[in-house]
Amino acid sequence: MQELNGLSEKLDAIKQEILTGMETLDSSKAVYEFKKSFLDSKTGKIGQLMKGMKDIPPQERANYGKSVNALKEWALAQFEELDVKMKEKELLARYESEKVDITMPAEKVESGNLHPITLIRNQLIDIFGAMGFEVFEGTEIETDYYNFTALNTPQDHPARDMQDTFYLTPEFLLRTQTSAGQIHVMEKSAPPIKILSPGKVFRSDDDATHSPMFSQMEGLVVDEGITLCDLKGMLDVLVQKIFGEGTTTRLRPSYFPFTEPSVEVDVSCFACGGEGCKLCKGTGWIEVLGAGIVNKKVLEVCGIDSEKYSGLAFGIGIERLAMLKYGINNIKLLFESDVRVLKQLND
Ligand code: DAH
Repeated sequence: MQELNGLSEKLDAIKQEILTGMETLDSSKAVYEFKKSFLDSKTGKIGQLMKGMKDIPPQERANYGKSVNALKEWALAQFEELDVKMKEKELLARYESEKVDITMPAEKVESGNLHPITLIRNQLIDIFGAMGFEVFEGTEIETDYYNFTALNTPQDHPARDMQDTFYLTPEFLLRTQTSAGQIHVMEKSAPPIKILSPGKVFRSDDDATHSPMFSQMEGLVVDEGITLCDLKGMLDVLVQKIFGEGTTTRLRPSYFPFTEPSVEVDVSCFACGGEGCKLCKGTGWIEVLGAGIVNKKVLEVCGIDSEKYSGLAFGIGIERLAMLKYGINNIKLLFESDVRVLKQLND
């Protein structure tokens, strides 16, 4: 019985060790490790006692087994209870740390918009695209020939003064007008031709309504029997789509070297309906673009038979349209990309 007496002290000591040890545990992982240090069948303190059973004299073995088993059952229950408590505590802590205040206002996600110039450019391409126009994009650096000479504006032609040009070399320049695209297209293709040429153009010009860089959209139609009536028909559709149903156009005589006759196109004032207001300076009309019948000389330079074919052309200033449409009086507002301005333009 000596052995068994010693055993009960040993078991008490283990029990005590478990009770005091448990008080220091602060996580379910620690509970697991602590439990293992007692109950692991090979390395645990209780596990080793179980293993030691084979060395106990057979007559004492039953009592020994009973006592150790009782301790094991007791320890298992202790650990189980603590584990449940610890896991509950951990879950609460997790809920606390992942807490979401569903009453908080949502963070506003701002989406971007296309720039008004891009919007108008796309709108123009849609409108004329529906009439069968194709897009030709030229280059921003042009030769003097395509920008001027072929457009019936040779060196020393007074019309060159209409456009203050940035020359790169005597031969190369930053194009002053998308009209240069007309020549490229007419040189390359035979009528019928129906193209739009959008792009940036450059002039040494800088005030509230002019910028050294701005955007134009050129239109060119060459076919048999093209007249100013075709031009007016197309432009009426254009202004109605851009400025509203009731608007119309009127043509006034003008001058461009590459068109004959040339016209200045006015749109009926979409602000006052033609009554006369501040926007149209009391006239009921607002100038929007230049156009005309392609000068025969220009057709001939490109190898097109001017007896058989005729053409119409127009050049739209995109910033000008944007300024009219959005009621902006300073062109710089379109280039500064101030979000406060752009937001208003997209409202
Ligand atoms: N290129 C002219 C300019 O920049 C605009 C223009 C006028 C284009 C008449 C045309 C046209 O095609 O027929 O001032």
